[in-house]
Amino acid sequence: WAGRLHRMDTVVSTQEEAKRLAESGALEGTAVMAEEQIGGRGRMGRKWHSPKGKGIWMSVVLRPAIPLQSTPQLTLLAGVAVCTAIRKMTGVEAGIKWPNDLLAGGRKLCGILIESNVGPGGLQYAIAGIGISANLSEEDYPAELKEIATSLLIEGGVPVDRVKLAGEVLRELKIHYELYLEQGFGPIARLWEEQSVTLGRRIGRKTQQGWLEGTAIGLGEDGGLLLRDDNGTVTSVCSGEIVLI
Ligand code: BTN
Repeated sequence: WAGRLHRMDTVVSTQEEAKRLAESGALEGTAVMAEEQIGGRGRMGRKWHSPKGKGIWMSVVLRPAIPLQSTPQLTLLAGVAVCTAIRKMTGVEAGIKWPNDLLAGGRKLCGILIESNVGPGGLQYAIAGIGISANLSEEDYPAELKEIATSLLIEGGVPVDRVKLAGEVLRELKIHYELYLEQGFGPIARLWEEQSVTLGRRIGRKTQQGWLEGTAIGLGEDGGLLLRDDNGTVTSVCSGEIVLI
């Protein structure tokens, strides 16, 4: 685990920078953090608002020897690590919305994007992209995000030292990643459940057949969210977006 943080000024996306490093053989734990991203991206083709000097826009190279179908577990693992780092360093009561959005006061504080590079032998490397809205104030958000997004500054009332928090995130990522490699997904799933704001809640989700609704009752072994509908049928939701009702 390199744990080295490369700092950059303006980039399109730290995902591309970390990929470049991974392609040239960077050790896992190598991280890139930028002051600003002009093409920051989120899950499901969305844009990620990444204004200059305000956030932790960071991507980390991982090289786990795991089967391809286990990569969603990395998403949950990263959520647990970042949530732990934020709670420890800032005291902000962040919670995880499945799969890995961090919320505070019902609004989004942090997003995580895992991108996998697959070769003939399976997973070659994965890039864990972490976007923490650290020192954004309400005015830093465009109108369409004001209602749904928040920041550590807004929640905690004080600015955070971004480089220190990035270091703490890397430390927690290493701890949780090693736990995962040694003991499998079980311990990570339990930690995820402890930090979750999703479990026990009523959840909705669009499906090809229409709308699925039920109570979130746990995490499956594959990292899918287990939903129990009103007939008692349990379904595992493995990808996409859910709505907290
Ligand atoms: C999401 O919630 O949709 C995921 C957001 C991920 C944003 C981070 S910021 C650092 C890295 N670079 C990107 O372009 N995206 C990720």
